[in-house]
Amino acid sequence: MSTPNDASYLDSVRGQVPLYDALQDAAVAAVPFEPAKVLELGIGTGETASRLLGRYPAARITGLDSDPDMLFQAREVAEEVSLARMEDPLPDGPWDLILSVLSIHRLTDDQKQTLFRRVREQSKALVIGDFVSLGADQGRTQVEGDAYPDTAEELAAWCDGEITWQEDDLVVIVADYR
Ligand SMILES: C[S@@+](CC[C@H](N)C(=O)[O-])C[C@H]1O[C@@H](n2cnc3c(N)ncnc32)[C@H](O)[C@@H]1O
Repeated sequence: MSTPNDASYLDSVRGQVPLYDALQDAAVAAVPFEPAKVLELGIGTGETASRLLGRYPAARITGLDSDPDMLFQAREVAEEVSLARMEDPLPDGPWDLILSVLSIHRLTDDQKQTLFRRVREQSKALVIGDFVSLGADQGRTQVEGDAYPDTAEELAAWCDGEITWQEDDLVVIVADYR
């Protein structure tokens, strides 16, 4: 994959995730109410955050990411960014919305379930957009490095959420904890 500063970065991501734009749109469309305070997990270059701001311009977004190179660009979009891992305790809430697109698949099943418990304690809602397991050799999404995709049903059950969109091996899940 290209580096985040490479102009072709988005093209490269779209090569690996052919339905990337549809996933981003579906994730933003799934947000269940206008959020004031948002935490994005794995904010990357800020692409999802920027689309969320397009829909909810007053939202104040904090982003975390474990890769300092990614955070460089996200600073232009988010009010605050921090170099942190999703596996660790979350930045202090409470949050209206915790959002994560194309990041959660990096966590193991135990790590995901621990994360979802923390999210529920600190946020009114969770929106996940990610790729899921459809069975061997199915699905068009390809990512580099370690990935632990689960089925959409497993993810939804662990966070007590609902699947609101699915196309090919991509899914959006929403949990409204209000
Ligand atoms: C593919 S990007 C997604 C960014 C944005 N949401 C989008 O859809 O364009 C995934 C991001 O998650 C970050 N990431 C991966 N594992 C992480 C972890 N354990 N903790 C925090 N961030 C992580 C990566 O560094 C990367 O920036």
